[in-house]
Amino acid sequence: MLDVGTGTGVLAIAAARYLHRRVIATDVDKVAVRVAIENARLNRIAPLFRAIHTPGIRANAIRRAAPYGLIFANILLPPLKLMARPMARLVAPHGRVILSGLLPEHANAAIAAYRAQGLILERRFVLDGWATLTLRRGA
Ligand SMILES: C[S@@+](CC[C@H](N)C(=O)[O-])C[C@H]1O[C@@H](n2cnc3c(N)ncnc32)[C@H](O)[C@@H]1O
Repeated sequence: MLDVGTGTGVLAIAAARYLHRRVIATDVDKVAVRVAIENARLNRIAPLFRAIHTPGIRANAIRRAAPYGLIFANILLPPLKLMARPMARLVAPHGRVILSGLLPEHANAAIAAYRAQGLILERRFVLDGWATLTLRRGA
């Protein structure tokens, strides 16, 4: 799994604990990466958790671990649009991308950007004013 913009690591930690799969967690913010590593240790999933301090998803370490069955990103629309093309290349056939933290009025633009890269919308919902999209790659 890949968590883009991990912040405290909360989503990556929850996913690793729940799914028992390895996760790479990235953030452009050095402090966030340090905090995420510490939180992974406190939550006893350090062996499944790798954090990388980098903007976006073009780092070699991210590419080397591809393809991913699940990628998630709780980030605003502008960086998500920039990442649509490289992210689609990192997803395994039938793999999923979950985009969250979107303003509801930005959801259609995100869907269009990812659809143009071959990702199909599976589910969309709004919770507490934030939109979440689940997208799937075909074969
Ligand atoms: C809304 S927070 C989400 C944090 C965490 N994933 C969560 O769900 O609570 C967005 C995070 O993405 C990071 N971020 C924003 N743009 C980024 C980019 N282009 N590449 C990597 N990280 C980015 C920010 O530093 C921040 O930690």
